[in-house]
Amino acid sequence: MNKLQPMFSVSTTILSCKHATGYTNSNPTRLVVETTRPVSHICQHSTLSLTMATVTTSSRRPYHVVIFGASGFTGQFVVEEVAKAISEGPEGNLKWAVAGRSRRKLENVLNHVANTLDTPELKCAVEVIVADVRQPESLAIMCKQAVIVLNCVGPYRFYGEPVVKACVENGAHYIDICGEPQFLEAIQLVFDRKARENSVYVIGSCGFDSLPADMGILYTKEKFKGTLTAVESFLTVSTGPEGGCGHDATWQSAIFGFADAARLRSLRKQFKHKPLPELGAKIKKRGALFFCKEIGQYAVPFMGSDPSVVRRTQRYLCEEEEQQCPVQYCAYAGVGGVCSVLKLLFSGFFFWLLVKFSLGRHLLIKCPAFFSWGLFSKAGPTQKQMEGTSFRMTFYGEGYTKGRDPSQGMPDGRITTEIRGAEPGYVVTPVVMVQAAMTFLNELQSLPERGGVFTPGAAFARTSLIQRLQRHGLKFTATNQQGAP
Ligand SMILES: NC(=O)c1ccc[n+]([C@@H]2O[C@H](COP(=O)([O-])OP(=O)(O)OC[C@H]3O[C@@H](n4cnc5c(N)ncnc54)[C@H](OP(=O)(O)O)[C@@H]3O)[C@@H](O)[C@H]2O)c1
Repeated sequence: MNKLQPMFSVSTTILSCKHATGYTNSNPTRLVVETTRPVSHICQHSTLSLTMATVTTSSRRPYHVVIFGASGFTGQFVVEEVAKAISEGPEGNLKWAVAGRSRRKLENVLNHVANTLDTPELKCAVEVIVADVRQPESLAIMCKQAVIVLNCVGPYRFYGEPVVKACVENGAHYIDICGEPQFLEAIQLVFDRKARENSVYVIGSCGFDSLPADMGILYTKEKFKGTLTAVESFLTVSTGPEGGCGHDATWQSAIFGFADAARLRSLRKQFKHKPLPELGAKIKKRGALFFCKEIGQYAVPFMGSDPSVVRRTQRYLCEEEEQQCPVQYCAYAGVGGVCSVLKLLFSGFFFWLLVKFSLGRHLLIKCPAFFSWGLFSKAGPTQKQMEGTSFRMTFYGEGYTKGRDPSQGMPDGRITTEIRGAEPGYVVTPVVMVQAAMTFLNELQSLPERGGVFTPGAAFARTSLIQRLQRHGLKFTATNQQGAP
């Protein structure tokens, strides 16, 4: 995985499969299409017509949810979360299946989750669908059986496009946990029209990247008494005595995302967007590294997908839902004290240097723990590390209080809100992804009227997703508003 391969071209939509490393099938050209259902059932699916924008299951489309990549590090926790949420499905009974390229691994995950949750029935009650990104027909058969596909197969720049394509072509809605702006924006460019035509909803970034930030802005807007014009968010992550880390796949996503940053800029030009209107003072970008009084530590601009996702949501709400004032947004992440800053500068320098070259990327991928100062590892975090980790995202907003004309003078109101939760990558992400799916299944009437490619905020702005998340351990609070009447 050391060469920087082209992401799928927005005109030809071809995926480079050279990155599908770790392929375990002894004959990679053989089509693997296998489910635990009888063959006649599978054949019936292959001649299906589309079932569009609906959440009802049928003998033809038997599962509300299929978790694709259920054997992955994150996928296994998504399986656990779905198993806990069965009663939250339509009519209190979610029908679901797991999918991936190795039946053995998928069965192991089901066994593990059955033991963890003390629900032995899971071992035989949950169907296993074998599907491989490199076998489009296997993806089509998987998608025809699902109302929604929860896609946990990443890095998405290498594996995501065929899955979105199969969903759009076969009438399955799609939710992922991608944090890669380039993939998220590219699928909008390539698939939005076709998804609209087929009334399929494709909703990216429904993990910690970037659903909390996106819904956090909508929450802040709702709590502000007046017209909110700008928000800065600060993310801080606290770890216990054992520290914390992220899994290898996210590290690889970051490596290839940085290496290919120029392509993201040219991709954005293809949207030919008009600049969004800006009300109030133009938000000032802070420096590359600064001491932040608000959170009492050094901070840097947040490098993930939050700014890109929030910007797309604000554009959608402004252009398609006629929200008058898009919120300007900057995202930052706390680094810690001087010692952490020195570590960051040291590892950041080597990352920046190595990521440019194929050999450098190879080294970064080979030794994630060494080059990230233990922030990422091939094994991922331990249970203890996850239990000891939590996050806090604080939003500082400003705007015009009620009765003030936003086109006159400077903003006079301030608001602070925050979201707190458990470990972001593998505890909060599965909760957020599964609750996005539950919201979709139970509140389709509150989603945008048409299908298409959406951000979480665009899709779920009018739903009860925030309340659902609150019930599942995320705390949204508005702590302070000044200047309001
Ligand atoms: N938004 C967030 O905050 C957040 C949080 C966590 C993770 N993520 C993202 O989620 C993605 C997955 O992360 P992870 O740590 O779970 O990665 P992982 O452990 O490497 O899992 C990858 C999954 O993809 C499957 N896969 C790989 N190639 C495939 C193919 N050709 N066909 C079918 N399945 C294939 C793997 O199957 P096998 O098991 O058979 O190898 C595995 O199930 C990454 O992109 C990561 O960045 C995002």
